[in-house]
Amino acid sequence: MIKTLIAANWKMNTNFGEAQQLTRDLLSSINDDAHVETVICPPFVYLQEISKLLEGQSIKIGAQNVYFEEKGAYTGEISSSMLSDFCEYVIIGHSERRQFFGDTNEIVNKKLRSAIEHSLTPILCVGENLEERENGDAEHVVGAQLEESLNNIEKTVNLVVAYEPVWAIGTGKAATSDIAEDIMRFIRSKLAAIYDNTFADNITLLYGGSVTADNVKDYLSQPNINGALVGGASLDAQKFQDIIDKAGEVAPL
Ligand code: 13P
Repeated sequence: MIKTLIAANWKMNTNFGEAQQLTRDLLSSINDDAHVETVICPPFVYLQEISKLLEGQSIKIGAQNVYFEEKGAYTGEISSSMLSDFCEYVIIGHSERRQFFGDTNEIVNKKLRSAIEHSLTPILCVGENLEERENGDAEHVVGAQLEESLNNIEKTVNLVVAYEPVWAIGTGKAATSDIAEDIMRFIRSKLAAIYDNTFADNITLLYGGSVTADNVKDYLSQPNINGALVGGASLDAQKFQDIIDKAGEVAPL
């Protein structure tokens, strides 16, 4: 049985005070019996301080990106070995990285390798844009993202895959749970083809794109959706807590 995972991607939001307050508010409201694994992914500069606040607590911490080189003259970049002192998770291949910062599947593949080498659990993001969906290319695009990103990567890894249709991110136009399930069933079958059925059956699959407390249970009621990657609604402690609580109502024990 796959444990339900609710992850928060704060993106480039919060100042230091707000980041600490958001974390404290979550810590004071979280219900450890809810059978939901919770991960927050703050901006890089707050990871160290927030990881201290989370010490000994049930909420886990992740980064929003990583660079694949180990160290050296890469001004402004952060390596997996640096992150591994503070984080358990790292988001890789988010559509905003692909759109604004040139992350290709090949780069995503290198980032995955470096994260895995340093025992970080990657949250690999895939998803089609609106034009690709309207052209009927969603499965083709997502399939290629998976194949190329996971090229020659061993199956013995902790891996989380997030399906985030670009047209549903930050738009309030969430994919229906049936649309999400269709692609996420496809993602699991693709993982089975790349690796094997047992591996695919045990991979945590998240849906992301305008998730709220009102729709999270619809997603989690689908057989191939094990959690959510939440953007906007994770910046408000109460809204994010409501999502976790709703998830807890349908989470497998
Ligand atoms: P929203 O929840 O704001 O749509 O963002 C989704 C997302 O991109 C999470 O990584």
